[in-house]
Amino acid sequence: MPPVPDSLVTAARTLRRERLIDLFGNDPTRVARMTLEWNDWRIDFSKERLSTDALAQLIAHADSCNVAHWIAAQAAGEKINLSENRPALHTALRQGGDTPLYVDGRDIIADVRATQRRMGDIARAFREGQRKGATGLPLKTVVHIGIGGSDLGPRLVCEALSADRAPIDVAFVSNVDPEQLTRALKGRDPATTLFIVVSKTFTTQETLANATSARAWLAAALPAGSDPGRHFLAVTANVSAAAQFGIAADDVLPMWDWVGGRYSLWSAVGLSIAIRHGYQAFAELLEGAAAMDAHVRNAPLASNLAIVLGLIGWWNASVLAHPQRVVVPYAQALARLPAWLQQLTLESNGKRVKRDGSPVDGPTAPGLWGDTGTDSQHAFFQWLHQGTHEIPVEFVVPIRAAHPLHNQQTLLVANALAQAQALLIGRRGEELHRELAAQGIQGPSLQPAAAARICPGNRPSTMILLPVLDAYNLGALLALYEHRTFVESVLTGINAFDQWGVELGKSLAKPIVQALAENRALPDGTDASTRALVEYVRALTPKTG
Ligand code: F6P
Repeated sequence: MPPVPDSLVTAARTLRRERLIDLFGNDPTRVARMTLEWNDWRIDFSKERLSTDALAQLIAHADSCNVAHWIAAQAAGEKINLSENRPALHTALRQGGDTPLYVDGRDIIADVRATQRRMGDIARAFREGQRKGATGLPLKTVVHIGIGGSDLGPRLVCEALSADRAPIDVAFVSNVDPEQLTRALKGRDPATTLFIVVSKTFTTQETLANATSARAWLAAALPAGSDPGRHFLAVTANVSAAAQFGIAADDVLPMWDWVGGRYSLWSAVGLSIAIRHGYQAFAELLEGAAAMDAHVRNAPLASNLAIVLGLIGWWNASVLAHPQRVVVPYAQALARLPAWLQQLTLESNGKRVKRDGSPVDGPTAPGLWGDTGTDSQHAFFQWLHQGTHEIPVEFVVPIRAAHPLHNQQTLLVANALAQAQALLIGRRGEELHRELAAQGIQGPSLQPAAAARICPGNRPSTMILLPVLDAYNLGALLALYEHRTFVESVLTGINAFDQWGVELGKSLAKPIVQALAENRALPDGTDASTRALVEYVRALTPKTG
């Protein structure tokens, strides 16, 4: 990967000293030049700490990093996940038509279509009351068990889509903390509950523990001799482990090695979406994502949403060195977007070496977090406006509501625009002094009163406006974030598709579980702090059995 060009480093140094609002005064064409449109979307990044000149240099840098080539290589199924020798073909899951795409000599599109047909059949049968449980009663509610990529995407989409398609009740259970499963099962009728166990590996500790407890809950409640297996479906690449768990092969839908967990909601991992909102909604989600894929593959660098947003993300994180990124969806339906994005961006790009094993040149993925507007205005926006850090904020705002309360929707959207404006312009001391003096505050109390109210402004943000949050636009939005994340990985030289850092904690948990559950000794060499903590937990854990 070419190093960060000196000209960009110089531009960053200059821009750090600029007031963002002055950049607008110096260039009347700024908004037009820093706004992208796609369908009825508008992405305004004119409030970012960026000049049109720096933007042009960033586009040139994307070109010299061969970003377009990498996007094509990903879509064509090249094995770009080098450390696992796999392609990253989530885009194939939403590709329309039947043009074959081969992985190791096998047409994966044929497999995808066959799985989609099964998903459609299962969803239809369930919604029409034809899928029966062990007692012969139709199954009515779903508990989706999975974690990470096997949870976050389907959960986000299930919650985001409008309730007007007679949604089926779907609860999500991810945490090994039994509290979540216990709450999900409370009030549910075992005779009419379907569990969908989603795990690419079918070895994930949390998922297996929850699935095992769910099976015990069923077995305790169903008539003796009945088959709890009828209340389970699995989505996995490990069919034999699902079979060992007691789920019949006919009730297992596939996942494939060529799809990463955090990119998998478009596969059978999204079965809960198809059941909850109907297969048509799932198909529209795929269509929106496919439309975004086509845009990202074909649009020139400068008007390519994923490339420009990826460049801005890289500029903010790796050149301006902002350690955090805040995402604020102004839509209650998108409450789970920050959590999904955390896994997408931080598991993909939270790394310190490049594909060739050499260290990356500067900071990589910034910490990402956020919450819905307007709630977050009454929580962390104070910090964004008056804290000591400059943190880029991303506003995601569907304009039209899927409900009839249009006045409230207007309030919501207006607040998003106002917050971005406030971050930009702030509130200056002179104006405050005048206002406070007019209110009779004078003498020594005037200065601290004014200082406490000053908002420095000059804080960057991007505004993503969507016409409405339907399945199509949601699919396109999530696909855009996937592509943008990939673009950022290309600019830093990272492999976005492995996650070796997660494995260490998983393997270290095993001896600690054995120490606590079976009173086994910790392995030699266990550090003193962990040893002492285990002893303390042991002492306070009630003895069972
Ligand atoms: O968090 C690590 C991880 O491997 C994720 O990449 C994945 O989404 C999650 O665990 C769940 O894995 P599985 O689907 O195999 O249960």
